[in-house]
Amino acid sequence: MLVLGIETSCDETAAAILKDGSRLLSSIISDQTIIHSKYGGVVPELAGRSHVESIHQVIEKALNEAKVTLKQIDLIAVTKGPGLIASLLVGLNTAKALAYALNKPLIGVNHLEGHLLAVFLQETIEFPFIALTVSGGHTELYRVDGFGMYKKLGRTRDDAAGESFDKVAKMLKLGYPGGPVIEKMARLGNPSAHRFPRSFLEKGSLDFSFSGLKTSVRNVIAKRERGKGPDLSDADISAGFQEAVVDVLTAKLIMACEQEGLDRVVVTGGVAANGALRERVVSEGGENGLKAWFPKPVFCTDNAAMIACAGYHKCLDKLPVSGNALDLDASATLKLGL
Ligand code: KG4
Ligand code: ZN
Repeated sequence: MLVLGIETSCDETAAAILKDGSRLLSSIISDQTIIHSKYGGVVPELAGRSHVESIHQVIEKALNEAKVTLKQIDLIAVTKGPGLIASLLVGLNTAKALAYALNKPLIGVNHLEGHLLAVFLQETIEFPFIALTVSGGHTELYRVDGFGMYKKLGRTRDDAAGESFDKVAKMLKLGYPGGPVIEKMARLGNPSAHRFPRSFLEKGSLDFSFSGLKTSVRNVIAKRERGKGPDLSDADISAGFQEAVVDVLTAKLIMACEQEGLDRVVVTGGVAANGALRERVVSEGGENGLKAWFPKPVFCTDNAAMIACAGYHKCLDKLPVSGNALDLDASATLKLGL
């Protein structure tokens, strides 16, 4: 089965061609970093406009690289939410137009399901497992019992982990997106130079909270500007902040496994590209008897291959009828799992 995946939920315009669920023939990602970096975050209106400008070239490039024509496509899979509505609508309407014009089946995919299944682009993981989805908009723990069988065990009550990386980078004037730049800085710093708070919430809770940590970083930076407190470099602050995030994410992931009696974990989403998090989950998780899988960094951040992969598994038993789903709608707040 040849699937064309389309993803435009935030600031990446992406298209991919996937054969039989795991043979990736092409994956094109056009990111908008240059547009948004001067604002220190994504500007929704500019993101939507930029998707309109690049979506057709991105799809064409994906088809050319895969050496397939639109006629050969068996299924179109598109992100229908959650995300920025003006961004989502560009991908969704493009997919609907293609499905209608070519009389092809169309499936709407939850962006979070795409992240959860990205690792299946590399290998098949045996169910059930625990998944930690850490991105710019989400920080969630799921029990995954099969394709389409997701039980939410915990979520962030305020900022997402990736959002906190972005905000700290903005406070330190390091640019956008914050994750990669903080990770790079952190390698040069001492994580013990300042101990930032870890929020574990009530005993046994699998929820997260990162707003206290963010405020603490802000206070430390303000104190430094007044010449007070210990002499901390940007690298020390980055390292201390990253260590606090990694500590909490790893501890809650291990707790979720204990609660559910599972020993397989998948860590996914943009923050899963972070080397310090990957190393810690492998080492500390390993000490606790866990085996961990991660998508390659390029499949952790937003991409259309994961959307094609999720679409493939949703339609494996039965393809929707051609020309269906013209009433498919985008949802900025689409939820995943019970
Ligand atoms: O999954 P993603 O591309 O988009 C969303 O669905 O949100 O995640 C983007 C987020 C951003 O907040 C970015 O700063 C973060 O992932 N991120 C990282 C790293 N690479 C991307 N965070 C920490 N370390 C990284 N290496
Ligand atoms: Zn994402």
